[in-house]
Amino acid sequence: KKDVLILAIETSCDETAAAVVKNGREVLSNTIYTQIKLHTLFGGVVPEIASRKHIEKINIVIETALKEAGVSLEDIDAIAVTYGPGLVGALLVGVAEAKAIAYATKKPLVGVHHIEGHISANYIEHKELEPPFLCMVASGGHSHLVLVKDYGEYEIIGRTRDDAAGEAFDKVARAIGLGYPGGPKIDKLAKEGDKKAIAFPRAKITDAPDDFSFSGLKSAVLNYLNQCQMKGEEVNRADVAASFQQSVTDVLTEHTVGAAKRLGIKKVAIAGGVASNSSLRAQMEEACRKNGLEFYHPSPIFCTDNAAMIGVAGYYEYKKGIRDGWDLNAKPNLKI
Ligand code: KG4
Ligand code: ZN
Repeated sequence: KKDVLILAIETSCDETAAAVVKNGREVLSNTIYTQIKLHTLFGGVVPEIASRKHIEKINIVIETALKEAGVSLEDIDAIAVTYGPGLVGALLVGVAEAKAIAYATKKPLVGVHHIEGHISANYIEHKELEPPFLCMVASGGHSHLVLVKDYGEYEIIGRTRDDAAGEAFDKVARAIGLGYPGGPKIDKLAKEGDKKAIAFPRAKITDAPDDFSFSGLKSAVLNYLNQCQMKGEEVNRADVAASFQQSVTDVLTEHTVGAAKRLGIKKVAIAGGVASNSSLRAQMEEACRKNGLEFYHPSPIFCTDNAAMIGVAGYYEYKKGIRDGWDLNAKPNLKI
């Protein structure tokens, strides 16, 4: 049986990434040029700067990915690319690049949903993992509980009503002066704080127990900071970070485990940038163990944006016979 090699491209936000994935599960290369330093100057991702940087770096990132995998373009079976959701100008760079390569080499083109990519990251290091399983996806723009029924077949069980979990991390980080990107900085500072110091809320939505809401939590943190300032009290930033993080961790864990039990699903996975949070990983692991659930999580490098995960999702689409034409376009608001 011949191996299937996918060249994958991901440019939905602020990472210019390319990867070569073999047979959907083996990552031969995973090249990421991160623009974080550039955007840190502005306290967040500046879309126009992101697109310009993608244009500048995309070719060298792809060349590096091919070289590290030890393959040339001729060996590749299909080109997979993220076409949404994400920043439209950033997505366009990857989509145009993928189309150009596919056209020039006469290889098939496969458009990949970014969130489907995040979920598929779990297949890389867990060769035994097969659907069905429940996946909690939390990134900068999304917080979803997704039932993965089969490869490429999903059902949304719950979603955030307002802010995404990663967005809450980024906003709280900015409020306590940690800067962008907030998630990893809060994760680090929280280790020095007391997670029980401040009682921040854990939102529940009465008629939709699987949905999330993080904007109330964010407001509660901002109110707390304002009150401290008014009273002239010094803020213990590590305690704020730890208490906030604990609230997010509790909510994500309880919702995920609760839904898995109700649905009778025995396998639970996590994905997206927030899935690299150390507190969340530890608590999910513990909760799954206590409830007799199998727990899966990607290494941190496969949680945050990367092209390997796009190569994995693209492989399963390719195997199903899914192909895109030259009309493939960037879809910033693509729904799962
Ligand atoms: O998946 P991702 O890299 O990009 C999107 O698709 O949005 O997720 C980025 C998000 C950011 O909000 C970032 O603050 C958060 O993931 N994040 C974390 C951690 N690392 C990244 N949040 C909490 N703890 C972390 N260690
Ligand atoms: Zn992402």
